Amino acid sequence: MAVLSAYMSKRGCMRCLRRLAPLVPVLMLLMLAVPHALAPGASLDSEDLDSGDSDAQVMLLLLWWAPFGNKPALPDCAMSYGVRGCTLTQDRAEYSRANAVIMHHRELVQEPEELPQLPRPEGQKWIWMNFESPSHSPWLDGLDRLFNLTMSYRFGSDIFFVDNPPMNHHGNNVGLPMGRRGSDSQADQHPALVAWVISNWNEEQERVQFYWRLRRYIRVDIYGRRALRLVNESVLQTISNYKFYLAFENSLHTDYITEKLWHNALQAGAVPVVLGPPRENYERFLPPDAFIHVHDFKSPRALAAYLMYLDRNPTEYGRYLAWRRDYSVHVASFWAEHYCAACQAVQASRKQKKTVKHLEIWFNS
Ligand SMILES: *[C@@H]1O[C@H](CO)[C@@H](O)[C@H](O)[C@H]1NC(C)=O
Ligand SMILES: *[C@@H]1O[C@H](CO)[C@@H](O)[C@H](O)[C@H]1NC(C)=O
Repeated sequence: MAVLSAYMSKRGCMRCLRRLAPLVPVLMLLMLAVPHALAPGASLDSEDLDSGDSDAQVMLLLLWWAPFGNKPALPDCAMSYGVRGCTLTQDRAEYSRANAVIMHHRELVQEPEELPQLPRPEGQKWIWMNFESPSHSPWLDGLDRLFNLTMSYRFGSDIFFVDNPPMNHHGNNVGLPMGRRGSDSQADQHPALVAWVISNWNEEQERVQFYWRLRRYIRVDIYGRRALRLVNESVLQTISNYKFYLAFENSLHTDYITEKLWHNALQAGAVPVVLGPPRENYERFLPPDAFIHVHDFKSPRALAAYLMYLDRNPTEYGRYLAWRRDYSVHVASFWAEHYCAACQAVQASRKQKKTVKHLEIWFNS
C-alpha cells in the first residue's frame, strides 16, 4: 500500500507541491509510471507468495502483443529509466521462462486464437494493457479471471499511465513554445482564438453536438481530415498559435483523459477547454487553474462569452498559464516507459498472487 499512498498524498498535496515547486522543479503534473502493485481497484484476489529467492527481482517480461502490431525496439530499462533487473523480449518461444506476459487488448480481441496454448507457468503474471476507453474496447466481458495485473489510464491500475505524462528532468521548456516563459504578454503570442483537431467526426458524439452549439457564439477553427490543414503538418505548431484548444474526448469515462489534453493542448501551450469526465476527475491529474471545463458554464453560449472575455483580458488569460512556472510538461516515450514500469510493478508484486476477477466491471466503473 505504500506506493499507492505515497502517490495519493502527493496528489492530495498539490498545493504544497506548488509552493515547493520553485525550489524543486516537480513534475507533479503527471508522474511517470507509478506501479500500483497493491492498488485495490480491480477487484483482486490476492495473497502473499512466500518467496525468499534473492534472484526474484531479475525479471523476463514477454511482450506477447504489442500495441497496434508494432515491433518496437525494446528499451534497456536500467539505462533509460534506472529500472534494474528487467529483460524485455518479443520472442514467444520464451513464454515458459517469462515472469510476466503483456497482452495489448486490441490485438487480443483480434486474434484470441493466438493466446498462449501452454499452461501458465507457476508465478507468471499476465498483464492486461489497454489505453482505449470502454466505449472502444470490445469484448471486455470475456476477460474475467484471466489477468493478474492491469496497465491502463485508469487510476488504480497496477501499472498506471496517463496518456502522455508531463514531466521534465532537465529543465527544458518542453511545454512552452519558444519565448513564452516569463513573457508578460503571453496572450499576444496566440493571435488566434479557438482550435480543434479532430479526425473521427461523428454526429452522435457529445463533443460534436457541443461543438455545433458552441460555434453559434464563437469561431472555432477545425483541423483534421475534412477541415483545415495543419501548419507544417504539425499539430503542435498549429495549436501553438491559438489561445484555446478544445480537448474534447470521444467518449466520457472515469479517468479517460487523453493526448488531446496532454499533448495537443498542454504541449502546444494553449489553454485546454475540456469535455470529458467531471472537473474533479481532471483535478486528480492537473492543477485546477490549468484548464477550463465545459461544465463550469451553464451553456455553450456562456462558455463562448467567457473565452471572448479572456481574449480581451490578457492578465486573466495569463492565470491559466501560471501553473507552468511550477510544472513542466514531460513527453512520454511510447511505449518504452510503459514496459519498464510494468517490469517494475512485476518486481514489486512478485510475492503476491492475484487475479483480476471482474475486469469489465472495474474498467467500466
Ligand atoms: C514551418 O516550419 C519551418 C521550418 O521549421 C519554420 O521556419 C516556419 O516558421 C514554420 N511555419 C509556420 C507557419 O509556423
Ligand atoms: C494469475 O491469474 C491466474 C488466473 O486467474 C491464476 O490462476 C494464477 O494463480 C495467477 N498467478 C499469480 C502469480 O498471481
